[in-house]
Amino acid sequence: MSNQTVGKAYELSDANVADLCDAAESAILDGGGFGWLRPPPRALLERYWRGVLLVPERELFVGRFDGRIVGSAQLVRPPKNNEAHQQIATITTNFVAPWARGHGLARDLTMACERAAKRHGVWFINLDVRETQKAAIQLYESFGYECWGTNPNYAVVNGKKIAGRYYTKDLRKVSKLKRSAKTPSRKKAGVKKALNK
Ligand SMILES: CC(C)(COP(=O)(O)OP(=O)(O)OC[C@H]1O[C@@H](n2cnc3c(N)ncnc32)[C@H](O)[C@@H]1OP(=O)(O)O)[C@@H](O)C(=O)NCCC(=O)NCCS
Repeated sequence: MSNQTVGKAYELSDANVADLCDAAESAILDGGGFGWLRPPPRALLERYWRGVLLVPERELFVGRFDGRIVGSAQLVRPPKNNEAHQQIATITTNFVAPWARGHGLARDLTMACERAAKRHGVWFINLDVRETQKAAIQLYESFGYECWGTNPNYAVVNGKKIAGRYYTKDLRKVSKLKRSAKTPSRKKAGVKKALNK
């Protein structure tokens, strides 16, 4: 039986970095990487993950299956000098390796980011996604993120421009945290069934 957890990463072992690189590479190849269109050289990817932990304003949350990291999300807060934005945070690079999707990990990663944001006294979380990232759009809208605008010139992928959607959520309103704790992921049940086959 698989064991699924989500938690904050305070340090990354070599094995953790290798897992994150494997997961990121497979997500990028699947077409839904976080910015990268092709997997960068492995050494660069490794430096990227190690660098995330060095940035004071970034918190890295990782999702694990049977101890191995298969996805992650980052909560980014403004630097201290940006006083006007202290109540604003961003969720970024929320991804799960294609083969680990449908288990509710992105939901748990999003909840972990929101809980951390609340602990920091954050009022609003802002984020943006390509309009082609349908699963992410569904995920965030199910969490109560409101689309306040679109940018038709958001990204260019394979020579084609792609619009982007901008979302915001007021964490002070009744959150979905309680509700989602009671409501298991729609797909979870199906995946559990598949895992048990
Ligand atoms: C978006 C993503 C992170 C979802 O990961 P996941 O672990 O499979 O998601 P979960 O199992 O936690 O599902 C949570 C919710 O997301 C939505 N969702 C997930 N996969 C979906 C799909 N294929 N189609 C539609 N909605 C989907 C649903 O609302 C789902 O809730 P439900 O199961 O109750 O219906 C994953 O598909 C991914 O890594 N995509 C590429 C990267 C990306 O787009 N990141 C977001 C912007 S940085």
